[in-house]
Amino acid sequence: MTVYQASTHEIGGLFPLLAASPIPAVGARIGYDAHSGGAFYCHPVEWVLRSMCTNPNIVCFGEPGKGKSSTIVAFLLRMMVFGVRSLISGDVKGEYTPLLRALGVTPIMLGRGSRARLNALDLGPLESRWDSWTVDRQRDELDGVLGRWVQLLVALAEAQGYTATVTDEAVLSTVLRQLIGVADGYTRLRPITIPDVQRELADPDPALWTQTRFADRRHFLDHLRSITDALTNLISGPLAGLFDAPTNFTLDWDAPVQSLDLSRLRTRGDQAIAVALTCLGSWSSLMTDLQEDGDIRIVVRDELWRQMRLGLRAVQAVDGELRLSRAERKIQVLVSHKPSDFLSVGAVGSQEVSIAKDLLSLCSTRILFGQSTRVADQLADILALSEKEQEATTGWANERQGRALWKVENRTGYKVQTVRSTIERKLFDTNAQLRPTPPTEHDPAGGF
Ligand SMILES: Nc1ncnc2c1ncn2[C@@H]1O[C@H](COP(=O)(O)OP(=O)(O)OP(=O)(O)O)[C@@H](O)[C@H]1O
Ligand SMILES: [Mg+2]
Repeated sequence: MTVYQASTHEIGGLFPLLAASPIPAVGARIGYDAHSGGAFYCHPVEWVLRSMCTNPNIVCFGEPGKGKSSTIVAFLLRMMVFGVRSLISGDVKGEYTPLLRALGVTPIMLGRGSRARLNALDLGPLESRWDSWTVDRQRDELDGVLGRWVQLLVALAEAQGYTATVTDEAVLSTVLRQLIGVADGYTRLRPITIPDVQRELADPDPALWTQTRFADRRHFLDHLRSITDALTNLISGPLAGLFDAPTNFTLDWDAPVQSLDLSRLRTRGDQAIAVALTCLGSWSSLMTDLQEDGDIRIVVRDELWRQMRLGLRAVQAVDGELRLSRAERKIQVLVSHKPSDFLSVGAVGSQEVSIAKDLLSLCSTRILFGQSTRVADQLADILALSEKEQEATTGWANERQGRALWKVENRTGYKVQTVRSTIERKLFDTNAQLRPTPPTEHDPAGGF
């Protein structure tokens, strides 16, 4: 038998998946590397510090039922040991709730039978920190917040079938500034809600239409009619009362994991859930950014594909939230089915593709569960996968749940099998509802 010898550098080129450089044994132990048989660890912040990648965000793709959520749960539970806390920004199916309860945490329930309200335009910690900041910092922080809110409002308008114009955006920004009180000289911030914005657009005071350079009030009303109507529908539609009133709960930021459970909204339709996820995404991104305790936080956005169906603006809103995020110690986890969820519904234009690629570049770690060949081709193209890596997602990863190709930026991918503990299997049972006798869930009546 002929024996060939080569350095690991060369072998890496010939057998990409065999000779991936080892992953440091730091952070959450996820499972094992199918090639080396060694343990596989994940600590995205450490990976950034060790120059393995440029950002700590994670995106997770895979067909339904492949084990995406279970892997994310394993990740956040095992990061807890290192004092890392998590926020589930919208649990559509109520899957995370039993896990929270087992940890002694009460999730925030939104929807039927709950009194919890979340103001989509919540100032949160901004209000209490305001006075301690210099004028420069105030201006900076406020620009960031207003940018997010405008993006949120135009995404919500697009959900109603209206594509906002640059003029709409400029007017929204001016209205928000006026309502919040910054026009009065940065003294005190006034809390606002979406109905405040809608009222101002429907019944503008003369200062508004002159400042935004409209000829008269009629001109203003006609021009802004569509966006005003879109906001009106939001206030009176299936989500009425949920995101348009002052926030009436306090999130326990010291809890190891917190979740906003949306399972009670399911009867209100897909559109309502997508809008709810958009409001929550914007809210949690702002809240976690302003937590200045120096701790690492994980923000999970499971079922992100639902939000993406709202259109290009929703994709841009998520992109903006990741981009505007100034908290370095935050790990954003996006979970979806396939990259095309991030492309606008309908025609795949070059703008949509470039925004989707942009968004993906903000997530250095890509966890690729089993996929069909068609989607795998798309993944290979967008994420520059090698042939072997692509095969791993269509073949190997499809053979068992919990298998995924972990691709950290341009490094060779790792074939990883997530291993769940018995307790994790019991507490995070996403098939629970399919079983004949689902466990009855204790829910303190009227609680959040
Ligand atoms: N690591 C694993 N090992 C063995 N089985 C697993 C593993 N992870 C998940 N499963 C099984 O796969 C099922 C689906 O897992 P999970 O709900 O995490 O998938 P998902 O990809 O999030 O699905 P969806 O897209 O529908 O949300 C689980 O109920 C569990 O039985
Ligand atoms: Mg899932």
